[in-house]
Amino acid sequence: MKFFIDTANLAQIQEANDLGILDGVTTNPSLMAKEGISGKDAITQHYKTICELVDGDISAEVLGTSYAEMVEEGKALAAIHPNIVVKIPMTKDGIKAIKYFTDNGIKTNCTLVFSAGQAILAAKAGASYVSPFIGRIDDSGWNGVQLIEQIAAIYAVQGFKTEILAASIRNANHIISCAEAGAHVCTCPLDSILGLLKHPLTDIGLAKFIDDAKKLG
Ligand code: G3P
Repeated sequence: MKFFIDTANLAQIQEANDLGILDGVTTNPSLMAKEGISGKDAITQHYKTICELVDGDISAEVLGTSYAEMVEEGKALAAIHPNIVVKIPMTKDGIKAIKYFTDNGIKTNCTLVFSAGQAILAAKAGASYVSPFIGRIDDSGWNGVQLIEQIAAIYAVQGFKTEILAASIRNANHIISCAEAGAHVCTCPLDSILGLLKHPLTDIGLAKFIDDAKKLG
């Protein structure tokens, strides 16, 4: 399973990249706004910087909602760097735009996916990635990991090549469950990635080793 970091914060991207296990980055308009990035030039520069920091797929989301806007914006985003993946919302126009980019050899990430039916449409349009938002599904009283399992089963039976990118990850357990359920990628906040490191028995065991090492001279 690939690890992406779900942020536009450069320090967090750098910290995750320094671990040596980072395969890419996902952003969205909310994450860009959180970093105070605004205006076309600043957004373009921010994506360039991220592409220079991380050698992997970098999802850059379109802001427009019509087919024409998404195609125009997506072409401009894809021109920033060869690793840019155009992130497009799951709408009727979005599906048409994904098909356009598939036909033109540009990678896409279909975002805001909350059902197996939407995941089938994204795969039919040739999306490189499909992004089910598992945390938001859990928040609404459903089970996000079950959706990952269902999409993984459908894609396997049908031979779809679209990669399942589990998004809206809330904690380390989500990452483990998504790995078990067949996600190809998890895009995670830094805290959730670092949460995988933690176990109290590791801390206790290390403290003892450090203590005993002192006896070794
Ligand atoms: O990038 C899309 C997704 O990961 C958003 O997560 O935490 O806003 O539900 P969240």
